[in-house]
Amino acid sequence: MALASAQSTSGIVPEVDQFIRSRTRRMLIDGKWVESASGKTFATHNPATEDILAEVPAGEKEDVDRAVRAARRAFENGPWRRMTASERGRALWKLADLIEKHGEEFAQLETLDNGKPLAVARVADVPLVVDHFRYYAGWATKVEGETIPVSIPGQRFLNYTLREPVGVVGQIIPWNFPLLMAAWKLGAALACGNTVVLKPAEQTPLSALRLGELLEEAGIPAGVVNIVTGYGETAGAAIAAHPDLDKVAFTGSTEVGKEVMRAATGNLKRVSLELGGKSPNIIFADADLDEAAVGAASAIYFNHGQCCCAGSRLFIEQKAYDKVMPKLIDFSQKVKLGPGMDPATEMGPLVSSEQYQRVTGYLAAGKQEGARVAAGGGRPKDLSKGYFVQPTVFADVRPDMKVIREEIFGPVVCAIPFKDPSEVAAAGNDTTYGLAAAVWTRDIGKAHRMAETLRAGTVWINCYNVFDAASPFGGYKQSGFGREMGKAALDLYTQLKSVWVNLGPHGDNGQ
Ligand code: NAI
Ligand code: MG
Repeated sequence: MALASAQSTSGIVPEVDQFIRSRTRRMLIDGKWVESASGKTFATHNPATEDILAEVPAGEKEDVDRAVRAARRAFENGPWRRMTASERGRALWKLADLIEKHGEEFAQLETLDNGKPLAVARVADVPLVVDHFRYYAGWATKVEGETIPVSIPGQRFLNYTLREPVGVVGQIIPWNFPLLMAAWKLGAALACGNTVVLKPAEQTPLSALRLGELLEEAGIPAGVVNIVTGYGETAGAAIAAHPDLDKVAFTGSTEVGKEVMRAATGNLKRVSLELGGKSPNIIFADADLDEAAVGAASAIYFNHGQCCCAGSRLFIEQKAYDKVMPKLIDFSQKVKLGPGMDPATEMGPLVSSEQYQRVTGYLAAGKQEGARVAAGGGRPKDLSKGYFVQPTVFADVRPDMKVIREEIFGPVVCAIPFKDPSEVAAAGNDTTYGLAAAVWTRDIGKAHRMAETLRAGTVWINCYNVFDAASPFGGYKQSGFGREMGKAALDLYTQLKSVWVNLGPHGDNGQ
């Protein structure tokens, strides 16, 4: 009773309380909740308290094999194959409704497991997930082929294309938006009629497992979505290398993306990769500088900088540098850090001890290489537990520094002055990555010219971090390839078949 009342005051809904208190979770294979074949489990933590939240199965190769067999059966022989496109669409829509109905639970699980503020999980993660499934519910009935006029002398042919599912798909997702990344992967794959083996990140498996509990009620048959929890090196690697998967879709670090691609060569499975970034955010002096400064702060601090598209290189036109920097610094110093479940919190902890070590390692490297800390720069003094890092602004950086070249994936931005558009275009593109970029200016011509020049999969003008299920997202260069979201994602999850029908020689029928 005491525990229950303590938890209710902390605002945890009973479903989540129960979910966490049952402690040992199972994973979903072939519609059944199972342990790992080895019986091994691992713990997932609350990064605000460092406490263990739950134990989940440590799935390995044998479990992935089992899940792939189930997904293969579901693809080849199951009811999924016989369902109409409309029924598939309705199941996805129903899934969206169920997630919406349990929205508060999902938001809380996300906050507890990942660390993000509950208010953010409520207004960003969960509604985006719901929208995403609804958007792809609509596509299920619109995955069309074409009829193509062909020109074969002397003979008439009907040529048409069928757009068919790729088959059985492995999907490996990261921890920064656990449920949303699951939605990005599942929405398009299911709308197109594939079956899936999904591996959530080991840091944040809980919301995907909860999602798994809703599949049956949504009308998605057993085996269509299998959720294998486990580490990257074991379960993830087994997915990438699996000989009976037709495709692997991966979101995460560029380094692991390359490994996934190498492993996929064994059976030449299709590969799509959504990887890291070091995105330039460019403020021209003619922009609304108040808006741009706040935009620059949220570009890097949203999700604690743990966004593949974080605006981590902030270029400010020389003339405006001394106006923008104080605003950015002021904003950075005022961000309220704390546990995500605390309503006053604006920024939570980083996801894990490993990520904390990585980000603080970059803070040390920046200082050691001579960058000046203009704001933040370390651990907040008033928080003794949890993986908290202050919003940090580095100034006086050089283009060869680690903090400029490498993805930090934390609330750390490097501010760099520039003189003119061609200089900043070259500097902005001086990176191996190409996921996103942004431009702040009132000059519409300059805005569009920059959008054309920047080598990135997304360019935001006078905004940042705007997403919609209908708009494609993905990388240039080493930020990966393939586009998720929008109509473009259908290409990732379908393959084209060209069908030829001999209609006989010209002349029949008077033609
Ligand atoms: P990671 O790339 O190791 O993990 C992402 C996913 O890949 C997880 O599900 C993980 O279990 C899996 N994985 C790991 N090794 C694998 C392997 N050998 N084969 C198959 N799957 C594997 O990312 P990590 O270690 O969590 O974070 C490291 C850095 O990666 C971050 O600091 C950040 O720079 C970047 N990152 C980028 C993300 C993005 O959205 N583009 C998301 C997460 C991390
Ligand atoms: Mg890793």
